[in-house]
Amino acid sequence: MIKSLPGAVRRFLAQSLIRAPALQRLLGKSRIAVSGSNGQKFVPNLDEWIHSHYYTVVDDAAHFCGDIIRGKSILNVGCGEMLTDFGLLRLDPHSITGIDISPKPPGHLEQVRAKLAGNGIQVPPSHADKLSFVCYDGENFPFADGHFELIFSWSAFEHVANVPRVLAEISRVLKPGGHAFVQVYPWFHCLHGSHLTDWIAEPYFQLRRPVEWVRTELERQAALRPAEADFILGHMFPEYRSLNKKSARQFYAEARNAGFQVIKAKLITYEQDLSAAPADTDFADLMIFGTMMLLKKP
Ligand SMILES: C[S@@+](CC[C@H](N)C(=O)[O-])C[C@H]1O[C@@H](n2cnc3c(N)ncnc32)[C@H](O)[C@@H]1O
Repeated sequence: MIKSLPGAVRRFLAQSLIRAPALQRLLGKSRIAVSGSNGQKFVPNLDEWIHSHYYTVVDDAAHFCGDIIRGKSILNVGCGEMLTDFGLLRLDPHSITGIDISPKPPGHLEQVRAKLAGNGIQVPPSHADKLSFVCYDGENFPFADGHFELIFSWSAFEHVANVPRVLAEISRVLKPGGHAFVQVYPWFHCLHGSHLTDWIAEPYFQLRRPVEWVRTELERQAALRPAEADFILGHMFPEYRSLNKKSARQFYAEARNAGFQVIKAKLITYEQDLSAAPADTDFADLMIFGTMMLLKKP
């Protein structure tokens, strides 16, 4: 199925299927069965993926955060395609600004709206007034101090190169007393932390193998699957290289160093066979697949 989809769609699918715990629940599958280490490959169809980003991600965030979204001016850090921003409109925020280092083409928001409509999702008419997108340099938010009431971030912080700097910017643009909801999946040290387990089966290779070995393995896989070669080598390998290799505990410490109170946290974890885990990797780092945290600016 995945081979019949356009490249950009396949990239999004592959990104999402290994990141969104909401998607896993939607599909009723074990995370471990999703990809890689046990030889199974599991790719959701496009409808499921769109619905998960529009409905389930938002519902999971709202369930975790409580009713703090309604009426708020929100900044979505690492917004990606912005399906979730459209989904957040269901919770009646004042406005949502998506920010990302990856630019969007002109008319992007209308394209996303049309994609949602094509999948049977009619977004509220208010979307044109409430949604906007800003591309930036990854370190300097182009907003005044205290501009936003709520920060939202889903499956983005493992890609942020300068986490302390972005946390400092989040703190700066957040009003005093404002909240930041940050979900991360997967953290680097867990089984799926490489994001490459659909192609490299060796458990925890990302903790042992040099980048040249990873590249060689992917080249071997690409040669076996020519139709996916661009995707594997042109997208997934650079994505692997861009991972900041942080752990949840580091992020927690950096959030506190940025002045945030961590007022709520949730671990995302699964039963694991740790027999191939490197002996020198911390148990908690191996076991924490993902986290949700609610930060508060005092
Ligand atoms: C896996 S995607 C997640 C996108 C979206 N949140 C979702 O759930 O579909 C990670 C996103 O983080 C973005 N990103 C990486 N570094 C960033 C930074 N410093 N600031 C903001 N976004 C960043 C990437 O460009 C990418 O769009």
